[in-house]
Amino acid sequence: MHKNRFTRIGFILAAAGSAVGLGNIWKFPYITGENGGGVFVLVYLATVFFIGMSIFVAEVLIGSNSNKDAVTAFETLAPKESKYWKYSGFSFLTGLLILTFYSVVIGWIFHYIVLSISSLPTNFKESEDVFTNFLKNDILSQFLYYTLTFIIIAYTISKGVKKGIEKLNNILMPSLIGILIFLLIYSIQLDGFYKAVEFMFYPNFEKFHTSSIIVAVGHAFFTLSIGMVTILTYAASLDKNVNIVKASTYIVIMDTLIALVAGLIIFSITFTAAQEPSKGAGLVFITLPAIFYEMGTIGIYLALLFFIALAFAAITSAVSILEPTVMYLVERKNISRKKATYGVAFFAYLVGIFVLLSNTDAYSQTLTFGSKNLFDWFDFISSAILMPIGGILIAIFVGYVLDKEVSKKAIIPYTGETFYNIWLFTIRYLAPISIIAIMLKEIGII
Ligand code: PFF
Ligand code: NA
Repeated sequence: MHKNRFTRIGFILAAAGSAVGLGNIWKFPYITGENGGGVFVLVYLATVFFIGMSIFVAEVLIGSNSNKDAVTAFETLAPKESKYWKYSGFSFLTGLLILTFYSVVIGWIFHYIVLSISSLPTNFKESEDVFTNFLKNDILSQFLYYTLTFIIIAYTISKGVKKGIEKLNNILMPSLIGILIFLLIYSIQLDGFYKAVEFMFYPNFEKFHTSSIIVAVGHAFFTLSIGMVTILTYAASLDKNVNIVKASTYIVIMDTLIALVAGLIIFSITFTAAQEPSKGAGLVFITLPAIFYEMGTIGIYLALLFFIALAFAAITSAVSILEPTVMYLVERKNISRKKATYGVAFFAYLVGIFVLLSNTDAYSQTLTFGSKNLFDWFDFISSAILMPIGGILIAIFVGYVLDKEVSKKAIIPYTGETFYNIWLFTIRYLAPISIIAIMLKEIGII
């Protein structure tokens, strides 16, 4: 075996580590709350397993077939006469954009780990003040936690695929799963558990609008880390002759289960405290801490475990976002891994400082452009525009450009022809059409 490649299980854990992140534990529960629960969850599941899963397989296919950085991967797999496909590989730049605000949020989580032990807010009003005050006025603490985040990410990536990424995920992912199982068991015996199940799985059409479908499709991309060559790059460090459909299925199932479990935990706690599930982005950072406080001593442990789990999930994702750019520089530009890592990380770190400052009272005016501050712009541009474009490029490439023999050889022996045909249909028609629909909607054209 090649010395700097994932083992099969190492790949599954690392790709699951990439997929499982803020998207599952922070975003999924609150968008489910905002979009009324049941029906939204159903649409989300359908999109993840049809469209998301198909593109996920496509990325793993390109990566594992080329064993190269994203740009070289597109270049070598495209027909010789098409010179431009290699530029699709540059969608790793989307990742750098995401890395900035993602790391700012990881900084908040570190702050809440410390708050869990030292001083949880004592009621909901105070909780809101604590969060807003931290975001708007506590530049120094935010900056320090943010810096710590980048040090952890860069250190891991500088160690390479086996000693850095695989090792980190081998420790953090099982711990994350352990903590979530514990929290789930705790939630099951809460009074609010039944209501949480009902909320998440009983279809309530009232709060569900067509725009909820768009939210579900957009989130399917974000949650699976697809559309920005992250999964492709991880798969490039995977040995050939792995059943890529099976590996992808495990990862997608793990991502989905963890989102559902996180939702059950958070809603059980929320309903037990007779709180609203539709509180939006503040659900995890405002509602939960106050509830944890009311629970007394046990609440402190639960808060600690919860925020540690959130940090683990987010760090493994952030690490995966940096790898594609680094791998490109290492392979194409012959830069050493250490130099490439610290260079790119430092660049993203500097840009991210402005993202962090754009939430603060002191700088928000300077760093707000039109209707959004820098934080919201980066989030919007990456998830509404760049990730979908990356997704379309991959779908078109694999569906229309890539030699069919390559995809047939990687899929049919393991799954048979029927599955292959469904997959190809999704990649050629379903995925591109629904992606174009989300983009037009998010930009506000339809
Ligand atoms: N999938 C991650 C989450 O759900 O939080 C976010 C993410 C990671 C998006 C890596 C994109 C990416 F390349
Ligand atoms: Na996810």
